[in-house]
Amino acid sequence: MKTVLTKDLKDHIGKEVSLKGWIYNIRSSGKLFFLQFRDGYGYTQAIVSEKEVDDKVWKIAGELTMESSVELIGEVSKHPKKEEYELQVKEINVYQIAEEYPISKKDHGPDFLLDNRHLWLRSTKQLAIMRVRNTIINATYEHLNKENFIKVDTPILTPTSCEGTTTLFEVDYFEDDKAYLSQSGQLYLEAATMASNRCFDFGPTFRAEKSKTRRHLTEFWMMDAEAAFVEHEENMKIQEKLILYIVEQVLKNNKTDLEILERDTKALEKIKAPFPRMSHAEAVVKLNKMGSDIKPDEDFGGDDETNLTKGLDSPLFVDLWPRKIKAFYMKQSPDNPDLVLGSDLIAPEGYGEIIGGSQREDDYDILLKSMKDFNLDPKPFQWYLDLRKYGSVPHSGFGYGLERLTGWMCGTQHIRETIAFPRLINRLSP
Ligand code: 4AD
Ligand code: MG
Repeated sequence: MKTVLTKDLKDHIGKEVSLKGWIYNIRSSGKLFFLQFRDGYGYTQAIVSEKEVDDKVWKIAGELTMESSVELIGEVSKHPKKEEYELQVKEINVYQIAEEYPISKKDHGPDFLLDNRHLWLRSTKQLAIMRVRNTIINATYEHLNKENFIKVDTPILTPTSCEGTTTLFEVDYFEDDKAYLSQSGQLYLEAATMASNRCFDFGPTFRAEKSKTRRHLTEFWMMDAEAAFVEHEENMKIQEKLILYIVEQVLKNNKTDLEILERDTKALEKIKAPFPRMSHAEAVVKLNKMGSDIKPDEDFGGDDETNLTKGLDSPLFVDLWPRKIKAFYMKQSPDNPDLVLGSDLIAPEGYGEIIGGSQREDDYDILLKSMKDFNLDPKPFQWYLDLRKYGSVPHSGFGYGLERLTGWMCGTQHIRETIAFPRLINRLSP
């Protein structure tokens, strides 16, 4: 007997097949059981009729519970009007009869659902989010490979900070040594860029910041990309192209998932190049006019990001940031050394900053001075400084947060739902 996937049922109309999966709901009407069945690839209704099956099968059907794992054998039929397929059950093989399932159709609070994340993952919406995330990952690999970036894996255990020392997770590393969990693979990627010309990494990153917002996780996945001979303007073009490709692929591959999530796909269809753009100074003026009291040398808060993109269809680049509120490695603007050639890409609809990037300082002496300005000990960064001694070239890069990107594509309000097992300040389990 051939085991088929629910998504392929249309190719087996009139044939007898086996389906392996779980029962996610059961209805009965005296002589019939309607089993709502899922196998991870889709959903289908399986009908058990007392008239058609022998007593043993009928009895098993009566014992099934929500989330029981089964093999169903039967004939595939098509719904007379809808693009839906059903199984007329002939046999049921039980893997396990599930105990009473803690997650029901009624509304549960977020804490209950997060405590039961290992089970919550099975629900329709959560699986749809995972599938969109999967598309974003694949689209990123595909697009960057096509654009001549190769993947280079950067380390998670590091001896130094990349984005600032206040948000590091420290771990003991053998005899009296300390290591830190990576905040971004960028610095290592810069080294690999001088070998490969263009490269990217994709992996877990860690931020010990005490931010309790719907956009912050303590462990999240970042994709950093880095390119030699690329300056600030081109860096933004590369980001724009990548985002457009990701949006296109999500719209193409995840139609059903976006429907399940009730995502307004028009908002995604409207995204197009060139993305709007303003300097940080212009953004501050705009925000002040909107009533915000943000100062010229301050970073945006979540509300500022939301307000800045109001009325925009595409993400917004904000560039030319005050040097003192950005990282030490960003290249100073040739027109004003107090500003850096860095950009944040802010998603529309209130999803916040999805990409941070910049041109990197490629001059040895200026970089060394910058480290001192930022109170960093240059010693552990000597290898990073070396890159500016041996064939230094202008180069730029950026990093996106996978969960923020997934949240934006899915229309998910809190990014804790966009990763299988979220890590938050107050949550480390399951
Ligand atoms: O802007 P960030 O801090 O930039 C960097 O780390 C650079 N080194 C990247 C680079 O140039 N290669 O982080 C990049 C992105 C942010 O735009 C955001 O999308 C995401 O990572 N991010 C977070 N996502 C979830 N939770 C957090 N706590 C995040 N912090 C940053
Ligand atoms: Mg940033």
